[in-house]
Amino acid sequence: MNQAEKELYLREYSILKNQGKPFFPYALAKDSVMAAIVLGVIIFLSLMFGAELSPKANPTTTTFVPRPDWYFFFLFELLRVMRNVPKFTAMATVGVPTIAMIFLFLLPFYDRSPERRITHRPVALAAGLFTIAAMAYLTYTGANTGSPNTVDMKPPANLSAAQKDTFTQGELIVGQTGCLACHTLGGNGNDGPGPNLTHVASKVPQQQLAATLINPTPPMPSFAGLPKDKFNTLVSFLSDLQ
Ligand code: HEC
Repeated sequence: MNQAEKELYLREYSILKNQGKPFFPYALAKDSVMAAIVLGVIIFLSLMFGAELSPKANPTTTTFVPRPDWYFFFLFELLRVMRNVPKFTAMATVGVPTIAMIFLFLLPFYDRSPERRITHRPVALAAGLFTIAAMAYLTYTGANTGSPNTVDMKPPANLSAAQKDTFTQGELIVGQTGCLACHTLGGNGNDGPGPNLTHVASKVPQQQLAATLINPTPPMPSFAGLPKDKFNTLVSFLSDLQ
């Protein structure tokens, strides 16, 4: 803004200021009335209809999968992505949002440009769009991640109905025996310390799969103690993971 523009602006501003009404009490009174109306409507609705509550918490359940509310999915996803790098977890989940809030808070101090048109502010526009896109992406992926103790992969289409049944049972056994604590299968499980098992059968032949389960390399525990039928279902499930 050059000197002439500045003077023009100040002149217009003082004219408008003389014509207008002061914030106190005029605007304040208007806002208070509106706030009182909104509050009244909320009180009325809660008295008439009550608040919707979900079922009571059950302290004995072992299958409950904790999930945040949808507007926290982006933070949840950030934590999920970072949990394998413990060094950065605190930075990603507390540090990044805090730094972003501080930047937002200090905006009036470092952004002193008088330019108001968004098309003339490429950096602000790019930063804003990037933040929205990143939060939308994290919210989306956070909402679609599988539970940490079930496998939901589709059986390969070339299997017979009976084989598909075995496949589904195998998924259940994998979920129950804790493989997901160390392995990824499809969209579920942890990314380490064990390798991703989504396509394990294309690398490891069936004999060797069974041998690994009986006599694995630590830290993987041995699963030789599983009942025979469960063990066979598990091996046949793994050997279908092409
Ligand atoms: C405590 C962690 C842990 C658990 C639980 C675990 N594994 Fe593993 N698993 C590993 C590690 C680590 C390796 C890699 C070992 C190595 O380097 O040879 C591995 C290797 C394997 C391999 C060989 C993969 C390859 O590419 O050679 C298979 C198959 C396997 N695990 C299946 C399972 C199954 C099925 C379960 C559940 C019944 C399971 N694991 C439970 C840690 C685990």
